Amino acid sequence: MTIIRSVATMKALAREWRRQGKRVGFVPTMGYLHDGHLSLVRESKARADVTVVSIFVNPTQFGPNEDFTKYPRDLAKDSATLKEAGVDCLFYPEAAEIYPPGYRTYVEVEGLQDRLCGRSRPGHFRGVATVVLKLFDIVSPNFAIFGAKDAQQVLIIRRMAVDLDLDVEIVTCPIVREPDGLAQSSRNAYLTPAGRQAARVLSSSLRWAEKAVAAGERDAGRLVAGIQAILEAEPLARIDYVEAVDPETLEPVTELRGEVLVALAVFIGPTRLIDNIRLSI
Ligand code: PAJ
Repeated sequence: MTIIRSVATMKALAREWRRQGKRVGFVPTMGYLHDGHLSLVRESKARADVTVVSIFVNPTQFGPNEDFTKYPRDLAKDSATLKEAGVDCLFYPEAAEIYPPGYRTYVEVEGLQDRLCGRSRPGHFRGVATVVLKLFDIVSPNFAIFGAKDAQQVLIIRRMAVDLDLDVEIVTCPIVREPDGLAQSSRNAYLTPAGRQAARVLSSSLRWAEKAVAAGERDAGRLVAGIQAILEAEPLARIDYVEAVDPETLEPVTELRGEVLVALAVFIGPTRLIDNIRLSI
């Protein structure tokens, strides 16, 4: 596995792959890899001649009071994991190469960036869209893979790819969960043992919602209230938001009909976790 730190070297290698007619798959990450990340790597390897994974804890997508400095990092372990998984290239840029002094250019996906997580994390999706566009330009992949765990993120990246005529196919993979249902996340490492137990409530509330809809519930307000009640019964949990929305516009729905995204963010102690479920009714 080639490890590349410099933008110029990554661009040169990407150009060479293109010249050789290789199909390049790309998995952008912030590292501290888990099985959710590795499911994306496997999908890329199944579709591509060359798989590139990036690890970059992107400062512009963290708010001033968020966890940028304490975000978990373990490059030695991550690179061993990626090598073992058969990844061809790890791109691990320096922040100063991605955002050199005087940096002033950002991408905004209007409207979509302000809903759900965007409301409690202003500027977050501006940082995500900006770094993903830059990484696409540097790696020049045929396709890039994202997880459904970050449903709003994938929607925003897809919108950006269409709006900016990017020649990158956007592929989505399903959420990978722990055996008890908790969605895998690098931030799960922050949880205390009691918090880890409490965190099961995110996925269990969504499973309840799925059953309620299967049993005939069609009122979005009642469904959201039911999820909130389950979350509120967990003393360590504090709700950031629970919403049932149109999966394309992220606007709240009143009636549960067609495709509906039920998304939530919950604080377990200081740790903010997200989860979602896509319902086809
Ligand atoms: P990160 O949180 O490291 O996630 C990298 C990719 O892994 C994202 O596409 C995310 O949706 C996916 N992922 C995370 N947990 C998953 C799970 N349990 N199941 C399936 N996929 C999962 O998302 C980011 O990094 C950043 O915002 C990034 C896109 C790299 C831009 O900085």
